[in-house]
Amino acid sequence: DTWPKDVGILAMEVYFPAQYVDQTDLEKYNNVEAGKYTEGLGQTHMGFCSVQEDINSLCLTVVQKLMERTQLPWDSVGRLEVGTETIIDKSKAVKTVLMELFQDSGNTDIEGIDTTNACYGGTASLFNAANWMESSSWDGRYAMVVCGDIAVYPNGNARPTGGAGAVAMLVGPKAPLVLERGLRSTHMENAYDFYKPNVASEYPLVDGKLSIQCYLRALDRCYTLYRQKIQKQWKQAGIDRPFTLDDLQFMIFHTPFCKMVQKSLARLMFNDFLSASSDTQNSLYKGLEAFRGLKLEDTYTNKDVDKAALKASLDMFNKKTKASLYLSTHNGNTYTSSLYGCLASLLCHHSAQDLAGSRIGAFSYGSGLAASFFSLRVSQDASPGSPLEKLVSSVSDLPKRLASRKRMSPEEFTEIMDQREQFFHKVNFSPPGDTNSLFPGTWYLERVDELYRRKYARRP
Ligand code: HMG
Repeated sequence: DTWPKDVGILAMEVYFPAQYVDQTDLEKYNNVEAGKYTEGLGQTHMGFCSVQEDINSLCLTVVQKLMERTQLPWDSVGRLEVGTETIIDKSKAVKTVLMELFQDSGNTDIEGIDTTNACYGGTASLFNAANWMESSSWDGRYAMVVCGDIAVYPNGNARPTGGAGAVAMLVGPKAPLVLERGLRSTHMENAYDFYKPNVASEYPLVDGKLSIQCYLRALDRCYTLYRQKIQKQWKQAGIDRPFTLDDLQFMIFHTPFCKMVQKSLARLMFNDFLSASSDTQNSLYKGLEAFRGLKLEDTYTNKDVDKAALKASLDMFNKKTKASLYLSTHNGNTYTSSLYGCLASLLCHHSAQDLAGSRIGAFSYGSGLAASFFSLRVSQDASPGSPLEKLVSSVSDLPKRLASRKRMSPEEFTEIMDQREQFFHKVNFSPPGDTNSLFPGTWYLERVDELYRRKYARRP
């Protein structure tokens, strides 16, 4: 085995906008029943960008902050790849804009470019980075994976499931979060559940109900395959027993809205239930007995299954998944970076000791559709100064940073959404607004000239 050991995530940086709208305020403003967004979707706040921010500025900020935090020299990165579905140019990659940060140091020898398929681009980039490191192309340097998106919807029932943010991850050997080898399962198919055919608009076309079914179907398929793969590995090692959720200490999901994730964990338990022996079904899965013999594919719209599985999996949800929803609850969907924001939230709410040695299951979903189930093995060493302890403490300021954002009214939010529509693809302008309302150290769009060329500046 000549591969580098323990390739995975060494360090992370999370960025979200400095302003948000409260979902209770939005319920009133949109004249819907109280609780529809906060209880029904499980969302309390939604972050959103001003017109001074675009996908390039979000990614510039998160990369610069990660480099500052790790204090690595700019020439130590040999691959940088961006996962995003927020497209402002059909040819020029966000990656090319990020080169602005590296080229001053003389480092222009950086592989990787943008990867796009809805929320899946970040995961594709992470897989590519690990593949590079485990291939003959690797030159011994770090890889950086950047995922970010501005998730916005037109007025209507999808709008409260928006959000915005970015995550940058440093990938390398001897990582505290190791991508487990041979344990990725994928399901891809052609679906029109959410897509962006209109290049003149930031908004997607979305069939909400279909998208939920597609997500759950992909989850079932990926989980089934993942279990087969791990059981095969186990068999080779002499272990012969079924894999269940008990073998994952934590489980994180792409999070379009938090309720969807609670239902997804319940769905995984339902998968375990259907494939268990009847003795195990009786002893371990109380409340699901009535659904014995059902086929997964016949239950996507079965509200009784939904309710019973939610109830049966509540303890498990509280233990394995709830902490990972912290950022999503307060900031909303961030498409490609959603899953990695969940990872950061999970790390932020557990000590290095709690996490050491555990296995984290991860489900990534991007409409259209592309999905994977994979797992991260957390290193055993949680001692002070260990890579794990450093990673955990680096995300511990998330709650404080979220609490320092500015609350905006639904009227102000709507006005800014209207402004974004108006300025999208406008030329020869400088976005209006006070740059002091951005977090310190944030990059912002300074000017778009008459040839659509964008110029960025950084708030001190
Ligand atoms: P809707 O039609 O407004 O919502 O749209 P609903 O009427 O179905 O209500 C939502 C839930 O709230 C329901 O819960 C209601 O009962 C409940 P459920 O029955 O499903 O368990 N509810 C209440 N609860 C408490 N108190 C109340 C109350 N009223 C209702 N008063 C929908 C919801 C998610 C469809 C919409 O917001 C949407 O289209 N969002 C965008 C699409 C989306 O998020 N899809 C998720 C899966 S696809 C995905 O993850 C990919 C994605 O991230 C994109 C990418 O890949 O790039 C989106």
